[in-house]
Amino acid sequence: MTESTQIPYLLRATRGETLSRPPVWMMRQAGRYMQVYRDLSEKYPSFRERSETPELAIEISLQPYRAFQPDGVIMFSDILTPLPGVGIPFDIVESKGPIIDPPIRSLEQIQQLRPLEPEASLPFIKTILQTLRQEVGNNAAVLGFVGAPWTLAAYAIEGRTSKSYSNIKRMAFTEPAMLHQLLSHLASAIATYVCYQIDCGAQVVQMFDSWAGQLSPQDYAAFALPYQQQVVKQVKATHPDTPLILYISGSAGVFDLMAQSGVDMISVDWTVDMADARNRLDSHIGVQGNVDPGVLFGSKETIRARILDTIRKAGNKRHILNLGHGILPGTPEESAACFFETAKQADQLLAGC
Ligand code: CP3
Repeated sequence: MTESTQIPYLLRATRGETLSRPPVWMMRQAGRYMQVYRDLSEKYPSFRERSETPELAIEISLQPYRAFQPDGVIMFSDILTPLPGVGIPFDIVESKGPIIDPPIRSLEQIQQLRPLEPEASLPFIKTILQTLRQEVGNNAAVLGFVGAPWTLAAYAIEGRTSKSYSNIKRMAFTEPAMLHQLLSHLASAIATYVCYQIDCGAQVVQMFDSWAGQLSPQDYAAFALPYQQQVVKQVKATHPDTPLILYISGSAGVFDLMAQSGVDMISVDWTVDMADARNRLDSHIGVQGNVDPGVLFGSKETIRARILDTIRKAGNKRHILNLGHGILPGTPEESAACFFETAKQADQLLAGC
C-alpha cells in the first residue's frame, strides 16, 4: 500500500493529488430528509439534546455514512452550538428555526460575553469527534465545522433567521464600533473552537459564513472578511496542516474576496458557475460544490448530468463534490443515493461520454 491510500480519500483532494473521481459529501447530509433521522427526532424532540448528547449526535452523524458511504462524515451539531459557552443561549424550535432570546443589541451585553473554554462548555464535542474517527477509520474523513463571525453575529443580533438582516445592518451603520467589538469577540471564540475540534480529531474544518452573501462587497470587506481572516490566521498559527474550507450562500458578488480569507478551499454555491469559479481562483485554492440542492428533486438523468457537468468544470484536482448549499428537507432519499453513486462512478461515466 502506498502512503496515500492510507489516508482518507477526501484528504488526497485537499493535498492537491490528481484523482480519478472527486471525493464527495453533502452539506446537511444528516437531517430531516432521512426517515431514520425523523424517527429519532420524534423520540428525542429537542435539537440541543440530539446534538449535545454524544450517543445521539454520533448515531445521527453515522446515519448518512451507513446509507451512502460518503467520503466525508460531518459531525452532527450546529453553528450555534458554541454560543452558550460565550454567554448567548439559544434554542432551535420546530418550524421557527434558531431562536436567541434576548437578542444581543447593546454594548453592555457584548461586554458581558465570556471567552470560550471548549473543554468546559463543549465537552461532548471531544467524545463525538473521537468516536467518529474510530468508527470510520480511513474510510472517510471526519469534518468539523463552525459558523463565521458575521453569520453568528447575525443570529445573535437578529435573534432568529432573518430575511432582511435589518437589526445587524442597523448596528453596522449606526454603531459600527459596537458591532466590531462583537465580531472580534466571536472571531477569537471561533478560532479557539476550531483548534479544539482539530485537537479532538476533526481532519478538515468548514467555516460557514452563510449570510455574508447578504453584504455588499464593500461591507463584506469591512464586516465579514477581516474576521474570517482573524479565525484562519489564529488557527493556522498552531494547526497549519488542517485544511479549512469557507462557505457563503449567494456568494457571487463577493466570490473573489472570499479567497483573501486565507482558507485552503472555497465551497462554491450555485450562483457561481464551477468553470467560472476555477477561472477566478488561484490554482492552489481548492473548490467544493456546487450542485443546486434543488436538482435533487429532478430525475436521475438530470442529477447525473448536473454532477458530471460540475466535475468536468472543476477538473481532477483539488475538487470535493458537494451541493451548493444544504440538502433540502423533502428531498427523496433515492436522489441522495444517486448523488453519491454518481460521484463514486464518475470516472467510468465520464469516460463513457
Ligand atoms: O451537515 C450536517 O449533516 C451537519 C449538520 C448541520 C446542522 N446545522 C444541523 C441542523 C450543519 C452543518 C449546520 C450548520 C448551520 N446551522 C448553518 C450553516 C449551513 C447553512 O445551511 O448555511 C446555519 C445557517 C445554521 C443555523 C440553523 N440551524 C438553521 C438555519 C436551521 C434550520 C431551521 C429549520 O428548522 O429548518 C438550524 C437547525 C438545524 N441544524 C437542523 C439541522 C438538521 C434542522 C432542525 C432539526 O432537524 O430539528
